[in-house]
Amino acid sequence: MAKTKSKPMNQGLGAAKVAKKDEFYTQYVDIQKEVEAYLEFDLDAFRGKIVYCNCDDPFESNFFKYFAANFNRLGLKKLISTSYDGSPVAGVQLTLDEYNRTNGKRQKPKAIAIEIEEVKDLNGDGATDIEDVRLFLEQNPHHRTNLAEGGDFRSSECVELLKQADIVVTNPPFSLFREYVALLVRHKKKLLIIGNTNSITYKEIFPLIKANKLWLGCTNFNVGMFFEVPDDWENFHHIDEQTGKKIARVSTSCWYTNIDHGRRHEPLSLMTMADNLRYSKNLKGKSAYDRYDNYDAIEIGFYKDIPSDYDGIMGVPITFINKYNPDQFEIVGTTESNDPDNPFRTRVYTSKECRDAYQKRFGKSGVYDLNASGVVNGVKVFKRVLIRRCCRTVQGKKL
Ligand SMILES: C[S@@+](CC[C@H](N)C(=O)[O-])C[C@H]1O[C@@H](n2cnc3c(N)ncnc32)[C@H](O)[C@@H]1O
Repeated sequence: MAKTKSKPMNQGLGAAKVAKKDEFYTQYVDIQKEVEAYLEFDLDAFRGKIVYCNCDDPFESNFFKYFAANFNRLGLKKLISTSYDGSPVAGVQLTLDEYNRTNGKRQKPKAIAIEIEEVKDLNGDGATDIEDVRLFLEQNPHHRTNLAEGGDFRSSECVELLKQADIVVTNPPFSLFREYVALLVRHKKKLLIIGNTNSITYKEIFPLIKANKLWLGCTNFNVGMFFEVPDDWENFHHIDEQTGKKIARVSTSCWYTNIDHGRRHEPLSLMTMADNLRYSKNLKGKSAYDRYDNYDAIEIGFYKDIPSDYDGIMGVPITFINKYNPDQFEIVGTTESNDPDNPFRTRVYTSKECRDAYQKRFGKSGVYDLNASGVVNGVKVFKRVLIRRCCRTVQGKKL
């Protein structure tokens, strides 16, 4: 990526949320990398499917551009894209519809839906690509419909389009992530969407992950992602030299999906408990793994220290989800307070115990909310996911 360094910063999605900014625009290359990874697992993952990008101005979104340009290669049946009236950058970013300009300036558009059922080589250059889509839209203005309800993904017009769709692919507004996922799940849709890694533990999201109804996408979530941001955005990371667009880095974004892919079937390569205790630098000096005071489980601070031969419950960092292979492990809960009925919880602290623990730890009065996490020797540890090994058998032999 061509870069011009500017104000370096790690713009978190959390900050974006607080600022009520939902205007992070996904780069073409990130969409391409993610989608293509599904094809490696199943070449026909998108063949014959109706793809719907429901938070995407078709003239500006790279989601629309990617799927339109690759319509034939992916074997799509139909591509639908709907824009949202409320977008503050509608009409000021990239444009495909040169014909929709007045005095050289594109008018701020009203919400529309675009539906495409074929992409032909209209300009006769021997390839079918985004130029052909532009020509197609120019020659077939009836393929766009004005959305009377403003293009909100929850509106009845958009829900009708959603019902048609097989796969929904987009980067939805961060502030509406819970609602967005709930709608797609309610309508039993396949999805491939970008969200915040912190959403993993949301009480609306975690049960889906636990039940293997939602998992992380192919792009490793530790890498962070770069997004195009509006021109008036101040805390950007750099300016892309080719496009002149401001780019912000979001360290806490990742892909969520319920489409199968190869990476989630790669087993984590692990050592036995004894070998970990002998060789892991994190467990140096210990003769056994720590156990929680309030869960019937062992504490594991680094996913690499997960023992390959322990059959009980293990508390592992949230980052484990990125390595989670459902053939190897089962997720049984979290140590979060939003999982109160967890059967592996062995103790619920009273308010007095929480106050006393605070006094003991910090030497002043306060409340140490011991019920909100796993506790080891009276000290709270970071957020943990509770897992256990899957009992797999190969040719009748328990592994
Ligand atoms: C994070 S941006 C991503 C835009 C585009 N999907 C992309 O990835 O480049 C989310 C988009 O959703 C739009 N949006 C906000 N609220 C919406 C709603 N209720 N329904 C549909 N779109 C909405 C925003 O205006 C914004 O354009």
